Amino acid sequence: MSTAAAPPLPLAVLVSGRGSNMAAIAHACASGAVNARIARVIADRSNAGGIERAQQLGLETRVIAARQFPDRAAFETALQYEIEASGARLVVLAGFMRILSGEFAARHAGAMLNIHPSLLPKFTGLHTHERAIAAGELQHGVSVHFVTGELDGGPLLRQARVPVLPGDTPHSLSARVQAAEHIIYPEVIGWIADGRLKAIGGLPWLDGRALLQPVVTG
Ligand code: GRF
Repeated sequence: MSTAAAPPLPLAVLVSGRGSNMAAIAHACASGAVNARIARVIADRSNAGGIERAQQLGLETRVIAARQFPDRAAFETALQYEIEASGARLVVLAGFMRILSGEFAARHAGAMLNIHPSLLPKFTGLHTHERAIAAGELQHGVSVHFVTGELDGGPLLRQARVPVLPGDTPHSLSARVQAAEHIIYPEVIGWIADGRLKAIGGLPWLDGRALLQPVVTG
């Protein structure tokens, strides 16, 4: 007896920038590599390049211009409305440059991912490539984690390491990190879509085991 394939997991992808991770996720979904679909791309600013890119990919888009709201609570109410209206079951922060409240994170506990361009817990926050070079790191990389109320602090799921090479600039290092991002972010989404990765009691479980350390490659 054959089992019907699960329907694609609907995603809300939140962007502030050019959206290269969003595009990588869209391609992984379209190719069938990941059993998910982008239900809506949402930007917090009208000039986010990711919006135009999403439209070129035929995706549904919304702009919720944060500056038009009196405070974060009002912005998050609008954001929540758009996420719910899209039917998304997983929220994917893909270069979303806005700190979300603990209440918002709690509402999406275990169902909201972020990608951060460093080997967390090293280099939370901004300018990670500059800081890794300045610190003389020999290795740098990228992390995918569940979002909690703590900035770049939720449970780590997946990391990819890249070398810091002699003569690297923030630009060259960032390009190397981004190439890794475009592989590991769709991969983690695929784990969730396939029911392999879940959050149980605030802890990630992968393939039936507590994931105490992220899966690391590179
Ligand atoms: C990526 O470097 C990601 O790690 C960080 O923001 C950047 C977004 O890039 N959170 P893009 O907009 O997906 O190209």
